[in-house]
Amino acid sequence: MRSLSIFILLFCVFYKHGASVMAYKVGVGRADCTGPSAEITFMGYAKASQKGCGIHLRQFARAFIFDDGTKRVAFVSIDSCMMNNPLRQAVLKKLKSKYGNTYTADNLVLSGTHTHSSPGGFLMDVMLDIPNFGFVRETFDALVAGIVRAIGRAHDNIADSKVFVTSGELLNSNINRSPASYELNPADEIKQYKHNTDTEMVQLKIVRNSDNKVIGALNWFAVHPTSMNNTNCLLSSDNVGYASILLESSMNTNDLPGQGDFVGAFASTNLGDVSPNTKGPICVDTGEKCDYVHSTCHGENKYCIASGPGNDMFESTEIIATNIFNKAQELLAEKSATEVKGDVGFVHRYVDMPSQKATIEVNGTQQEVRGCLPAVGYGFAAGTTDGPGEFDFAQGKRNSSNIFWNFVRDFIFPPTPDDVACHAPKPILIMSGRIKLPYEWQPRVVVTQILKIGNVFLTAVPGEFTTMSGRRLRNSVKDTIMKNGGPTDTRVVITGLSNVYTNYIATPEEYQLQRYEGGSTIYGPHTLTIYLKLYQELAEALMKGQNINKTDDPTPFIFPSQMLSLVTPVYFDSTGSWMASFGDCIVQPSQTYKIGETASATFIAGHPRNNNLQEKTFLAIEMKDGSDWKTVATDANWETKFIWQRASTFKATSHATIKWEIRKGKFNSGTYRIRHYGNYKFILGGVFPYVGVSRPFTVTK
Ligand SMILES: *[C@@H]1O[C@H](CO)[C@@H](O)[C@H](O)[C@H]1NC(C)=O
Ligand SMILES: *[C@@H]1O[C@H](CO)[C@@H](O)[C@H](O)[C@H]1NC(C)=O
Ligand SMILES: *[C@@H]1O[C@H](CO)[C@@H](O)[C@H](O)[C@H]1NC(C)=O
Ligand SMILES: *[C@@H]1O[C@H](CO)[C@@H](O)[C@H](O)[C@H]1NC(C)=O
Repeated sequence: MRSLSIFILLFCVFYKHGASVMAYKVGVGRADCTGPSAEITFMGYAKASQKGCGIHLRQFARAFIFDDGTKRVAFVSIDSCMMNNPLRQAVLKKLKSKYGNTYTADNLVLSGTHTHSSPGGFLMDVMLDIPNFGFVRETFDALVAGIVRAIGRAHDNIADSKVFVTSGELLNSNINRSPASYELNPADEIKQYKHNTDTEMVQLKIVRNSDNKVIGALNWFAVHPTSMNNTNCLLSSDNVGYASILLESSMNTNDLPGQGDFVGAFASTNLGDVSPNTKGPICVDTGEKCDYVHSTCHGENKYCIASGPGNDMFESTEIIATNIFNKAQELLAEKSATEVKGDVGFVHRYVDMPSQKATIEVNGTQQEVRGCLPAVGYGFAAGTTDGPGEFDFAQGKRNSSNIFWNFVRDFIFPPTPDDVACHAPKPILIMSGRIKLPYEWQPRVVVTQILKIGNVFLTAVPGEFTTMSGRRLRNSVKDTIMKNGGPTDTRVVITGLSNVYTNYIATPEEYQLQRYEGGSTIYGPHTLTIYLKLYQELAEALMKGQNINKTDDPTPFIFPSQMLSLVTPVYFDSTGSWMASFGDCIVQPSQTYKIGETASATFIAGHPRNNNLQEKTFLAIEMKDGSDWKTVATDANWETKFIWQRASTFKATSHATIKWEIRKGKFNSGTYRIRHYGNYKFILGGVFPYVGVSRPFTVTK
């Protein structure tokens, strides 16, 4: 008896210290990373004329740090279109000066949510910054500041916590926007899945031990944040960003959006071919169906546009956001969520994609395949049904018969016969990998990385994996982990748009059709094949605890300190008249509104680019509370809009209109006023804050 109990005791001690770590230290933190909200082109639709005109929803960075007492990993989801290496390097440099070697390239993942309504110009690679007229330092600095602040808050918050993992199915919230490509995957493979998009939401829930409080939720659901279309000019974190605000508001009940302890993120995953516009595409000119393979209408690309589920883009954003939020809330309450157990780990490697090789089996024989120098095809320029391209390219054209564009291409840089063969059947439009002027056009060197939190493996990928590419990668990483002693409940999550941006990763079969996703798979038809091999190697090294010999690994491109930029600065602001001051309310709100109506006021404004007002607001809706005024909404609220307009370019005057939808159930009757905060640039230099306030008005039932 006695020896048996000693044996059990020893077993428990061993078990606790050996295979399984029960509790982690976890930190969560959120910070405002809002960039310039006016006159800077948004990143995503590559539409140069889609420039900011104010704010609907602010951008936030949400950081999660997991520590098992020995090792630590950090994951940050950012309301931005994507990330890129120079930005990550700038973040790492700041983290190093604050925290030494706690956060390094090895254990930090930065993942963009992929909203298409936030300012661009921060990527540095020439091709990625072209729609933004080159590099925009303001966007870059705003993102770096916010990301570092979010990590700092998570770092300061670290506490003993439990982590739970769960998942559930969410239907009617995404569709495949390239089904013609998807259907080229092997029939046996397609048969294994019920849908042509992933419908599973995966959630990590963090519960602090000291008070049993849920302090964070990190969710992944595959959908493009393209509910807001390419005509939107208000900065927005789109469907997933709004889902975060809804989730955080439901947990931080007395806080304004972007405030409060609970942090809830909806991070990107294999969303490559996944659209939120669930009504699907139609020919907007005739109402007919688009061509299935090319997404054209009577031969033209620009009329085939997807929308829905709402009647306009705001309604669509709200419906998708609410679906995602509801599912996450349901998962938070899920009793069957399993506790995450096991140690924390990480593995990271820089890889030069064009020099990679892999083997595939063709008709029973092994064949060597290779990566190509970056290039995009005609399908890339066609854009997608979420936002067609600017010129008349169509998806799914395998030959390049456009004399004009072939001329332009060859003028910039002609592909060599070897490039053409390597990328076949992609008709090359821009041979970005060969252009070196004035610096790199698209990255050659990618970041491959896996973070391990017990039995959950965050597989950080440098771009947009399509649905099937993501499934193949998940399966292959999981197989490798299990073969190397991983637990049967191993969960692999693809974390999309992480660390560096290399456009799309379609399967070799999907690539054949050369729709947008295939045309944007920049390292050629075997890009995915190479990634499968690279991530298998990473997973194996991680499980075996091996050190990878990185002696011969490449270093990412170092950009010059002088970046190409055609973006003009703000020269100065003026009120247009000696009599007027910044902040003057020139259009007062009505004296009364009914709940359900929209109040508005217009002010003489400075340029929003003078100061992004991070952690602050361009507007406040204030409610009278005794002799005080209490802020009930800011520019981070869904119900408000901060709309900036140039009044006269010649006089350098501008106006800010503030709109407030007085939603039923959210706001009460009472006395309110509207405030506007801003900064103006004085003609003789210097930037100065100002504030304006409207007259009070009443809101009645
Ligand atoms: C964008 O959405 C608006 C409705 O909110 C619609 O009027 C417009 O046609 C759409 N445009 C495109 C290009 O999708
Ligand atoms: C594989 O074999 C089949 C039947 O022999 C043949 O038709 C096909 O072209 C081969 N495929 C390749 C890629 O060689
Ligand atoms: C290019 O492809 C189209 C169909 O997509 C075809 O009609 C045309 O003949 C092809 N042209 C060349 C030069 O191959
Ligand atoms: C790592 O690789 C380099 C070059 O391939 C080799 O010279 C070196 O000995 C290797 N280091 C170890 C520890 O294996």
